[in-house]
Amino acid sequence: MRRVLWLLLLMFGFLNWGSAQEPLAGDEALGSRKYQDYEKPEACKSCHDNIYEQWTQAMMSQAYTHHWDEIEYFKLAVPHAEKDEMVAGVKAGCNGCHAPISFLVGDVPPPKPEENSRANESVSCDFCHTVSGFKGDVPFNYNYISTPGRLKYGPKPGLKSPHHDTQESDFIKSPEFCATCHNEKSPYGVWVKSTYLEWKEGPYSKQGVVCQDCHMPKGWGKNAKMSKEDLVAQHLFHGAHDPGKLAGAIEIRMNPLEREVPYDGTVVLKVQLFNGKCGHKVPSGSVEDRIMWLHVTATDANGKVYHLPVDKKGFEGEEYTIAADVLAYQDMGLPLGIPDFKGLPRDGVPVGDRIFRMPYFDPQGRMTIMQWNTKSLGVDYRIGPRETKIETYTWTLPEDIPAGKVTFKAELFYQRLVKPVADFLKVPEEESHPFLINKATTWVEVYE
Ligand code: HEC
Ligand code: HEC
Ligand code: HEC
Ligand code: HEC
Ligand code: HEC
Repeated sequence: MRRVLWLLLLMFGFLNWGSAQEPLAGDEALGSRKYQDYEKPEACKSCHDNIYEQWTQAMMSQAYTHHWDEIEYFKLAVPHAEKDEMVAGVKAGCNGCHAPISFLVGDVPPPKPEENSRANESVSCDFCHTVSGFKGDVPFNYNYISTPGRLKYGPKPGLKSPHHDTQESDFIKSPEFCATCHNEKSPYGVWVKSTYLEWKEGPYSKQGVVCQDCHMPKGWGKNAKMSKEDLVAQHLFHGAHDPGKLAGAIEIRMNPLEREVPYDGTVVLKVQLFNGKCGHKVPSGSVEDRIMWLHVTATDANGKVYHLPVDKKGFEGEEYTIAADVLAYQDMGLPLGIPDFKGLPRDGVPVGDRIFRMPYFDPQGRMTIMQWNTKSLGVDYRIGPRETKIETYTWTLPEDIPAGKVTFKAELFYQRLVKPVADFLKVPEEESHPFLINKATTWVEVYE
């Protein structure tokens, strides 16, 4: 009898020990590590020289230090977290993705970038290459499992290194690895970043084309100085900060319904926008910040230029997809300490232009760029992978239009951050610089 009891006790002890060893992930992993557990990127540089230089050029190495990240975290998120219990968790949580080692170490908030602490490593080599999986059903909100040590996970089997052990990992090659940071839920339980979910629902997931195929394409070269040549995954992680990645992300075509129009007639134009290059919606990721809009003009035979507003389609929430002179972003007043903040112009682009976006709303139903303060989402009018959207422009010819050729130009612009917000928060101009993604032209003949 006593022996059975001992055995039971032992079994219970073992079970408990088992659960105590369960890997930590997400918020529960906060403060579970030490900085010394992780090697600095410079330690990898001596052998992985080319990959290191690529990474320093990529946003991954600047996720904590980049000017807009610094401004949003220190001027908005941290003060907001200190004033509003509901979002208190983001003070630590932002860095679960932007400076994961500092999060795991429990350095909250980390020193500012100018102090050059280890938070500045941002998303580093040793962080990514020691992730062994994720915890839960869906990868999101930094629920990766970090297992730092001598063993580095990589895409290939059986590689030998003098500095560390290697192991092939299916996880690091999977889109779920990226999704632990590229899927985000706000404290209100709303999906405020869903690049992975968009990809999953789209055509590329069905064809097995993953994030790495487009953002870490493989090219011939060496992955370490001493290794032999092979196809090597590039580490540039090019996205919305790379003009080459944005260029042509959407194709545009345009045609009139009729080529010849009487001087008192009406021109009807059709503009097609096709997402043929992107594995998810455009824009994706930081959708609350991004703005993409279509600007259409006509030039008559005398060279006079007219701006054409888009035809309304009549769907619910459409008012957020047509540029207007209205105010938004009033919720910034709380963290900034401005009582009764009136807000800022919502769009900062020509009134009447079509905007491709999904608005984020704060708990009071006002549009916000503070994604962590999002309680609901508006209409999703972005362009999905391999989707085509068609816009119509109906233009009654002005009375004094001369006979002859009228040419039309459609231009699709993209800004990483809506301009009124960028100007107000003094974010450097490069973040709100309009980038021309694509353009198209067509013409009609006007006759007497
Ligand atoms: C955001 C996470 C991330 C960061 C940061 C990162 N890597 Fe990688 N690395 C990956 C992924 C994912 C792959 C595998 C891609 C594939 O093959 O699908 C990879 C592949 C590699 C490979 C193998 C390349 C090949 O194809 O043979 C090496 C070596 C490597 N990384 C080293 C580094 C070094 C050194 C750094 C820092 C300078 C670094 N990585 C930073 C995610 C990362
Ligand atoms: C002293 C040189 C040296 C240093 C320092 C070094 N590595 Fe390596 N690493 C290698 C070599 C050599 C290989 C095997 C390359 C081959 O055979 O293609 C390798 C392979 C890898 C792989 C496996 C790649 C794959 O395709 O599966 C990863 C991941 C990796 N290193 C990450 C790192 C990280 C992260 C650091 C820094 C913390 C680092 N290495 C530091 C030499 C080094
Ligand atoms: C530890 C969290 C983390 C993981 C894991 C991660 N990312 Fe990121 N990624 C970020 C953060 C944070 C940024 C934003 C950087 C910034 O602009 O401040 C980012 C930005 C990007 C960008 C946009 C770059 C640009 O030019 O604006 C791309 C593309 C990207 N990641 C691809 C990937 C891919 C592919 C993977 C998987 C192989 C991956 N990421 C894994 C955190 C992560
Ligand atoms: C078929 C190729 C393709 C695949 C697959 C793909 N992407 Fe992209 N991605 C692109 C292109 C092209 C852009 C540039 C257009 C843009 O910024 O919207 C982009 C942009 C991005 C951006 C910046 C978005 C923005 O507007 O700020 C992020 C972040 C990103 N990708 C992450 C991912 C992740 C994570 C996955 C996997 C779940 C993935 N991508 C799969 C092609 C791809
Ligand atoms: C679940 C992971 C995750 C969390 C949590 C997170 N971010 Fe991010 N953040 C990202 C990724 C991934 C991107 C890149 C998206 C893209 O390229 O469109 C990003 C982009 C950004 C950008 C835009 C960068 C640019 O260059 O345009 C800012 C600013 C930012 N995050 C600040 C924050 C702040 C502040 C918090 C906390 C309130 C936070 N993030 C929480 C993953 C995260």
